[in-house]
Amino acid sequence: MLTIYETNTVAQLMVTKVRTGRGGFVTAQLGTGMGCHRAAIINMSSLAASMQLVQANEMFLKVYPYRIAKTALNMITRCLAADLKSDGILCISLHPGWLQTDMGGNMAPMQVQEAIPGILSVLDRLGEKENGSFLDWQGETLPW
Ligand SMILES: NC(=O)c1ccc[n+]([C@@H]2O[C@H](COP(=O)([O-])OP(=O)(O)OC[C@H]3O[C@@H](n4cnc5c(N)ncnc54)[C@H](OP(=O)(O)O)[C@@H]3O)[C@@H](O)[C@H]2O)c1
Repeated sequence: MLTIYETNTVAQLMVTKVRTGRGGFVTAQLGTGMGCHRAAIINMSSLAASMQLVQANEMFLKVYPYRIAKTALNMITRCLAADLKSDGILCISLHPGWLQTDMGGNMAPMQVQEAIPGILSVLDRLGEKENGSFLDWQGETLPW
């Protein structure tokens, strides 16, 4: 459990801390407003992290370490969204879809290249309104 937590939760916060040190380069004038044109933290989460959708995700029911780590990552997203707002740095959690990767496996309904255009378009549209949100690869809001 601790290994999974370190990889999916602790590491994300540590990288963010290093890259956003107050007065660091990401707070330079790269444009106005919030969004990927300026600075954004996209935490790779999962539908399996949703506490409200636990029952709807039966195949993940017993994957405790991964689910807990991703749910904690979602809390990091909420905290960073509030913490870094004054620096104009946006933060969201993103569920990329169930994809055919090493992790997703062959049973996944989508290939990576099918999801990428959707993900890029979601990232392109991000603004202050989406700060602190949990979105999927189509831009739909997911319940926490
Ligand atoms: N695929 C899905 O269906 C799906 C669904 C929901 C969420 N996600 C999330 O999307 C993200 C990408 O997943 P994926 O499907 O692309 O997984 P993947 O194919 O298994 O790739 C995982 C990547 O993470 C790297 N990695 C793993 N442990 C690491 C560590 N301790 N330190 C540094 N790098 C490490 C791996 O590096 P190496 O290649 O060097 O091992 C690999 O490049 C993950 O956060 C996953 O939870 C995926």
